[in-house]
Amino acid sequence: MAVMKKIAILTSGGDSPGMNAAIRAVARSAIAKDMEVVGVMRGFEGLLDGDFRPLGARDVGGIIHRGGTILQTARSTRFMEHQWQEKAAGNLLDAGIQGLAVIGGGGSFQGARELQKRGVAVAGIPGTIDNDIAGTELAIGFRTAVETALDAVMRLRDTASSHDRLFIVEVMGGRSGFLALDVAVAGGAEAVIVPEVQFSLGRLIDRLHEARKKGKTHSLIILAEGVMPAQELRDRIQDTAGYDARVTVLGHIQRGGSPCAVDIILASRMGSAAVEGLISGRGGFMTSLADSTIELRNLSVSWETKKYLDPEMMRLVGVLGV
Ligand code: F6P
Repeated sequence: MAVMKKIAILTSGGDSPGMNAAIRAVARSAIAKDMEVVGVMRGFEGLLDGDFRPLGARDVGGIIHRGGTILQTARSTRFMEHQWQEKAAGNLLDAGIQGLAVIGGGGSFQGARELQKRGVAVAGIPGTIDNDIAGTELAIGFRTAVETALDAVMRLRDTASSHDRLFIVEVMGGRSGFLALDVAVAGGAEAVIVPEVQFSLGRLIDRLHEARKKGKTHSLIILAEGVMPAQELRDRIQDTAGYDARVTVLGHIQRGGSPCAVDIILASRMGSAAVEGLISGRGGFMTSLADSTIELRNLSVSWETKKYLDPEMMRLVGVLGV
């Protein structure tokens, strides 16, 4: 087994708060083991373009608290094609890079697998505010996004209670409801609408009627964007039950901001574990948080298994929200 002397780092997919802390942890852990570190700009797009920058200990200074990613990120359609995957692996191997840390979501991990198959040892570090990556309890950025969305929800509670209004808050989560569900429980919402659960307008209207009967004069509905646009839900509630709801779409605000302590610590632990795995000769793995421990699991777990919403959390919204 060749001694791992040079690794690269890239961030891919939607950025998330804490990615910079992960970049810092990978770089400094590798430098501490006398490895050379290269930053790949703009995710797989920059990898295809050979857009590499050397990363020294000082290059990752002053970023631990910054949202976003100093390496920038991109969504690469080119990388889906085999000839581009060959080129990407060639760019790394020609530069003497033996290992690659990919910080991103599930789709990025499938891209990383293609590099593993072509001789680059890859370590996936889960980073997405959706937290929809199977194989880890938490992805970097999720906890911060929950806090960001919750801050907005608490502000909306003030005005909703002042005007006896119904608010629909659309949060991110194109294909999953993890963000919506945590925000709904923490924000005391009356209802949460997620892609994983078949939507019933009738059931929602009944819920709103039940809240009114119990004397609740203002309500919050948390809607994951993957179900339908908030405006459409507003119109359907208006047409069906005559409730005049207001709509707030949080959008990309949830992707920014300084990472919370949980995300910085998670990123630091995962970044360090990724380097340990690579230098021990492993490849094709992801870092995983399981019961407060950081483990290394096969990358394929992230797409071969599914991650489910916690039914206890769904039940809590039902019981505590009205
Ligand atoms: O994957 C994270 C995420 O923020 C999703 O929640 C959201 O649907 C998507 O990215 C938005 O993608 P983009 O930033 O490319 O518009």
